[in-house]
Amino acid sequence: MPNPEIPGIRACVFDAYGTLFDVHSAAARCRDDLGGKADALSDTWRQKQLQYTWLRSLMRTHADFWQVTGDALDFALAAVGLDDPAMRQRLMDLYLELDPYPEVPAMLGRLKAGGIATAILSNGAPAMLDAAVESAGLADTLDHVFSVEDVGIFKPDPRVYGLAADRLGAAAHEICFQSSNAWDAYAASHFGFRVVWINRFNQPPERIPGAPDRQLSDLSALPELVGVA
Ligand code: LAC
Repeated sequence: MPNPEIPGIRACVFDAYGTLFDVHSAAARCRDDLGGKADALSDTWRQKQLQYTWLRSLMRTHADFWQVTGDALDFALAAVGLDDPAMRQRLMDLYLELDPYPEVPAMLGRLKAGGIATAILSNGAPAMLDAAVESAGLADTLDHVFSVEDVGIFKPDPRVYGLAADRLGAAAHEICFQSSNAWDAYAASHFGFRVVWINRFNQPPERIPGAPDRQLSDLSALPELVGVA
């Protein structure tokens, strides 16, 4: 493929939660017990989890993403009127074995076979990322798993994106970053990465600095964009 749309890419770096892994698969697996509360619980859990990362970064009170995920779940359970420690434990356990989106394993395999390095760059704490990668069967197709814990602050602090560039020994413009979280995609673009926003939920553009190079509705066509046939 002589003229890829995004040329000169040495590494594809992926957000984890929402991009490779379906964060709503945990509550979905408890739908029988959660009944009509499953979707509201899952949405509030995710929204609060992200808000707490931003708040903790601004407050300079970092705690790792496992702690933040548990705190957000406690808020969400209270918000839907559930006081159920066993369900809390089950949902946290399921967060370690989230479903990958269906196109992810083959897409990663194609990139790697095509000579492009593959990596996760995530808010996730190392142990939770390792568990999710292992459970989803992605360990063989990911060259690196980078966690914000190595810089002690959450996305979108530029030090997080810098961590991936440093570890890969690549210039920012040689890295193509993918996230379904629009704010993460815009911030990575503002940092200097080439970016494909995986707009899984057909959301409107953000109004913050940054300009993703491309949008896709899922990850299947990424290899072609970076020159892998
Ligand atoms: C992550 C969050 C943003 O994986 O989904 O970093």
